[in-house]
Amino acid sequence: MDGLSYKRGDYHQQGESLRDYHSALKDSSFTLRCERAVTSNGVAFVHDINAGYWPELYMECDVIFADMPWRPGYDEFNRRAGSSLGHPPWPEFVQNVSRLVANIEAPVVLLWGKHAERYMLPSEWQRPVESNGRPAILHGWRLDRFGADGMDRLDIVRLLAHRYDCLGDFCCGYGETGYIATQLGKRFVMSDFNALCIGHIAQEFTDV
Ligand SMILES: C[S@@+](CC[C@H](N)C(=O)[O-])C[C@H]1O[C@@H](n2cnc3c(N)ncnc32)[C@H](O)[C@@H]1O
Repeated sequence: MDGLSYKRGDYHQQGESLRDYHSALKDSSFTLRCERAVTSNGVAFVHDINAGYWPELYMECDVIFADMPWRPGYDEFNRRAGSSLGHPPWPEFVQNVSRLVANIEAPVVLLWGKHAERYMLPSEWQRPVESNGRPAILHGWRLDRFGADGMDRLDIVRLLAHRYDCLGDFCCGYGETGYIATQLGKRFVMSDFNALCIGHIAQEFTDV
């Protein structure tokens, strides 16, 4: 792996508490807050997607992927982030994300539950996939439909990292997208509104 090592062994061999960040329904044990984490392969920073602008750093990306918060976990992710901007109701959040997707030029792939479709910008294509063992929908804009049927989240990111040189993720959590991009020798730009997520990435993604 170019420019990256892990202080506590392989990322996916770590404790359940770290992997559980995928779900707002389980506890999170992150402790370090950080505004920005930089490695040889990319950057992760704090950004609230409701802020209404698309950070310049994302211009480097040739695809954007995000594993979105679902309605049942939305309030818990907001509570953990404790953002000073305040948190819009769920329909408004989905519409803010939709506006973003409509206004940028890069191809976008979002992993979301069917329940989000009611408020979402209609996608150009959808595939039935899995996230955390649950049925989910992969939505695509501005890229060819690819054969992702039944795939889980990690394989979807791997597939994107094989095809593209720089992956963006604006709901990055503990940074799986950047981890996979780095494993495959690619670059990443990631953000999350929770500074504890960026702190986790700053601790775990260490330049060598
Ligand atoms: C399902 S998790 C993503 C997990 C991620 N794939 C990982 O590797 O850990 C959804 C993420 O969206 C983030 N999120 C929720 N609302 C957000 C917002 N308004 N702006 C930015 N990130 C947000 C949450 O903090 C959470 O980390």
